[in-house]
Amino acid sequence: MSTAAGLFLIRLRGVTKVYGSGQARLMALAGVDLDVVAGEFVAIMGPSGSGKSTAMNILGCLDTPSSGQYLFQGAHVETLSRDQRARLRRRYLGFVFQGFNLLARTSAQENVELPLLYRGETAAKRHAAAARALQSVGLGGWEDHTPAELSGGQQQRVAIARAIVTEPAVVLADEPTGNLDTQRSREIMVLLSGLNLDHGITVLMVTHEPDMAAYARRLVRFVDGRIDSDAANPHPVVPGEPTVPAATAGAT
Ligand SMILES: Nc1ncnc2c1ncn2[C@@H]1O[C@H](COP(=O)(O)OP(=O)(O)OP(=O)(O)O)[C@@H](O)[C@H]1O
Ligand SMILES: [Mg+2]
Repeated sequence: MSTAAGLFLIRLRGVTKVYGSGQARLMALAGVDLDVVAGEFVAIMGPSGSGKSTAMNILGCLDTPSSGQYLFQGAHVETLSRDQRARLRRRYLGFVFQGFNLLARTSAQENVELPLLYRGETAAKRHAAAARALQSVGLGGWEDHTPAELSGGQQQRVAIARAIVTEPAVVLADEPTGNLDTQRSREIMVLLSGLNLDHGITVLMVTHEPDMAAYARRLVRFVDGRIDSDAANPHPVVPGEPTVPAATAGAT
């Protein structure tokens, strides 16, 4: 790609989303421009109803804009057919949702294998890759447990394993810690940060919690279907680094 668009993994240009019509017409997105470079970790914040999930669904090729452009690696997603969008989704994107969205009565191992099944991978490949992904989220040994036999934090880690088992370019996480306590939320943030820092996966995460957004290196704020602010986070939390100020660390 020789154009400027090639610099960006993701570009939204004037994206709108209108739901309903007449009296019930609602503009969920009112012209969103967003550029994301590969390897970024972006937190998306903003009031309830400001369009965060609508934007994530469009970015995740789960929904289409009413108008405007969505470029993914320079390709115009808004012109793709439903099948082409599904292929893009399966090849490049991983999803983590607030409600974990695991299949009940299905083992952690089988939940994580599912995206590979859709890709047509052999049973042997699926098995090995899912076991590796579960290991990488700290759930080695938990392969046979069903969601009901796992804590919320563990279920979300299974969901992260499922999101990364296909080695996606981008992980889209919509309030991934919304159902978890602070300790479990931090564990999830450490995992997401690791995907970004250690594996170069681009992470876009919606959150209502400033403590969780603090892990991202860029903060985008939605208000009324528009981007109200978009700025670098000058001091992102880096897992493993001491959070105690340097001046007082060790001064016991
Ligand atoms: N499928 C739909 N049909 C009609 N209206 C919708 C639909 N999905 C979202 N909306 C409306 O679009 C607006 C934006 O919703 P969206 O879910 O994107 O907000 P959000 O920023 O994710 O909010 P929250 O923080 O509560 O999750 C809301 O007013 C919502 O009611
Ligand atoms: Mg939402």
